[in-house]
Amino acid sequence: CGIVGYIGAQNAYPILIKALKRLEYRGYDSAGVALISDNQQLNVYKTKGKVSDLEVFAAQKDISGTIGIAHTRWATHGEPCQANAHPHYSESENLAIIHNGIIENYAVLKEKLQEKGYTFKSSTDTEVLVQLIEYIKVSHNLDLLTSVQLALHEVIGAYAIAILNRNNPDEIIVARKSSPLVIGIGKDEYFIASDATPIVEYTDKVVYLEDGEIAVIHRGQELKIVTQDNIAVNPTINTIELNLGQLEKGGYPHFMLKEIFEQPDCIHDCMRGRINIEGTDIALSAIIDHKEKLLHAKRFIIVACGTSWHAALIGKYLIEKFCRFPVEVEYASEFRYRNPVINPGDVVIAISQSGETADTLAAVEEAKNKGAFIYGICNAVGSSIPRATHTGSYIHVGPEIGVASTKAFTGQVTVLTMLALTLAREKNSIGNEEFRQVVHELSTIPEKMKKVLEKNDSIANLSQIFTYAHNFIYLGRGFNYPVALEGALKLKEISYIHAEGYPAAEMKHGPIALIDTEMPVVVVATHNNQYEKIISNIQEIKARKGKVIALVTEGDTTIKNIADFCIELPKTIPCLDPLITTIPLQLLAYHIAICKGKDVDQPRNLAKSVTVE
Ligand code: G6P
Repeated sequence: CGIVGYIGAQNAYPILIKALKRLEYRGYDSAGVALISDNQQLNVYKTKGKVSDLEVFAAQKDISGTIGIAHTRWATHGEPCQANAHPHYSESENLAIIHNGIIENYAVLKEKLQEKGYTFKSSTDTEVLVQLIEYIKVSHNLDLLTSVQLALHEVIGAYAIAILNRNNPDEIIVARKSSPLVIGIGKDEYFIASDATPIVEYTDKVVYLEDGEIAVIHRGQELKIVTQDNIAVNPTINTIELNLGQLEKGGYPHFMLKEIFEQPDCIHDCMRGRINIEGTDIALSAIIDHKEKLLHAKRFIIVACGTSWHAALIGKYLIEKFCRFPVEVEYASEFRYRNPVINPGDVVIAISQSGETADTLAAVEEAKNKGAFIYGICNAVGSSIPRATHTGSYIHVGPEIGVASTKAFTGQVTVLTMLALTLAREKNSIGNEEFRQVVHELSTIPEKMKKVLEKNDSIANLSQIFTYAHNFIYLGRGFNYPVALEGALKLKEISYIHAEGYPAAEMKHGPIALIDTEMPVVVVATHNNQYEKIISNIQEIKARKGKVIALVTEGDTTIKNIADFCIELPKTIPCLDPLITTIPLQLLAYHIAICKGKDVDQPRNLAKSVTVE
């Protein structure tokens, strides 16, 4: 979900709508806004659908007011519908709240409030919270801040909330626990948002609220931050470095396509200052700074979710190959609840584009409590995970807006490659020659990516052939096995075609039963040490009349004779192959989804940043 707010001299509504659109990638099944109008009414407008539907809904309504809050939702509690959309009113309709997160003990609290005569209009946990605040406020005759503090003491769960009070048109109260919240400080105005993206066009001065903090944002006054126990906190003002151009589509029809095409520049940016101009040396400063800890690691555990988990698998192959440390890769959600065995000397790497994924953040906390050293690999600067880790490296690929992750994946793989190489050099587990060869090859990847992107038109043509398919299989071996998983995930996410990624050799242990004349099988079959093996796998598919789309190395003639379709890619060394082979799979998924008329930037049921478990 995304939350935004505004208080200042301007009309709030247009600012809130624009901000919601910038945050829409965080969730988009319903949207709503609350404003205190010029004549002191607290107006709440909300609707199922996207922010554009909200605009239509509110078109003829009173949208005046210089203070307001707004929300775009990704349903967790209650189906997406108008009643469940935020903001939610309290019983007296004096308070309106927006909330990102989950109140876990809402059922108990709701029952208590119902006994006191409170009625509920929605099935959300959020409405319970605003009713609880009102109950405390009215029954004890308290001010809003104190009521919020007391209510939050009773609440178990995760939240970023913003509350408006009809009787105080000069104040918004916000609070955070485990869900992100940023306050932008303008000239005589304040902005509130789940992340900095909607704020950058107004100000570069922001305060990241910390867990357990509550901010009183009062018109014309300094920002006041207190804890739940009312201890004052001095706000730390950060300067953000995003620019507006990075947040717009820049001539592309979709953010996803723009982000796929940005990859050569992103990878270049990701390596800037870390690899020397000659392409002979590499250093990730966080590795050098913490080398004593890292070199004495007993093992590495990489935790992540979704696409970042696929990058983690590639990280395992890289670290094991170059550094000879044992590496385990875990889904953050499984790791955190398993009471995992962590020993002193374990290093946990957490990978997350958004830096906010609830499960990954919780896995970091769990590992930290058990004494592990935590290294973060994130994209969103200043987000929760980098702030919770001991050290880490940003991937620096710029904001990723398309819900299906593309450039963040290649950025993560690039950082993992640099991490493995830097560490291997410190550990002396790599020879000079090999080190130089890999570093040099890495420095050529952006140029090679550009060549891959030249295939866009032919991949678009190829995609038209496969819109009939209800299933796809993706196969790869070695470094290209996680690429197959990622290719399948991309297709699933945006075209809603069922797809499975498999290690090519595993196909014969099950998925081969699915192959018939209709089944498209995408095989990542570039030239490497498993090339002969993957040819056999292609033969196995062709013997069962499956349709093979093969990714091959430029100049390949053998596979061209067996496969139905080939996409030729520039040659690189096997450990860097994912940076090349992932791109055509991103394009394939994109074009198939477009052919099927799907909304690629905002696929159904998905959210970019999953701040709930
Ligand atoms: C969501 C997104 C995925 C992403 C995953 C992990 O499911 O839709 O694209 O890979 O979360 O996100 P993170 O921000 O932690 O990388």
